[in-house]
Amino acid sequence: MIGEEKIRELIGQAMEARRHSYSPYSHYQVGAALLAEDGRVIRGCNIENAAYTPTNCAERTAFFKAVSEGIRDFTAIAIVGSPAGEEITQFAWPCGVCRQVMMEFCNPKTFQIIVAKSEGEYQCMTLEECLPNGFGPDNLG
Ligand code: THU
Repeated sequence: MIGEEKIRELIGQAMEARRHSYSPYSHYQVGAALLAEDGRVIRGCNIENAAYTPTNCAERTAFFKAVSEGIRDFTAIAIVGSPAGEEITQFAWPCGVCRQVMMEFCNPKTFQIIVAKSEGEYQCMTLEECLPNGFGPDNLG
């Protein structure tokens, strides 16, 4: 489990990442901050597309940035999401596709998913709680 201070810092970084959200179609802005085991933090935002389906969620942007730089061991991710121009009034739990990507690289029993409205107001669950009986690399032996 990561400490309160680190959680607050991660949430702050997710809020910063959200500022870069490219979401001209949904106007729903998401930011994520992914904590690697070595302490590095990799940020991501959602990136939409006029053809819609190429849209990438904030969480997957963070994961793909990290993996493409050789980082594969992760501890936690903080996520903030809300419509543009609004206060963050909801907990933005990750979509099913992002949960599956987490399953590829993270230990479901220990990886922490933190969703926040502010640095002090957040909820936290393990990947296993968010994706019970998930299919992952271990299934392929
Ligand atoms: N989105 C994310 O970035 N993360 C999620 O887990 C759910 C959805 C983005 C995708 C799209 O740009 C917008 O939110 C509305 O679906």
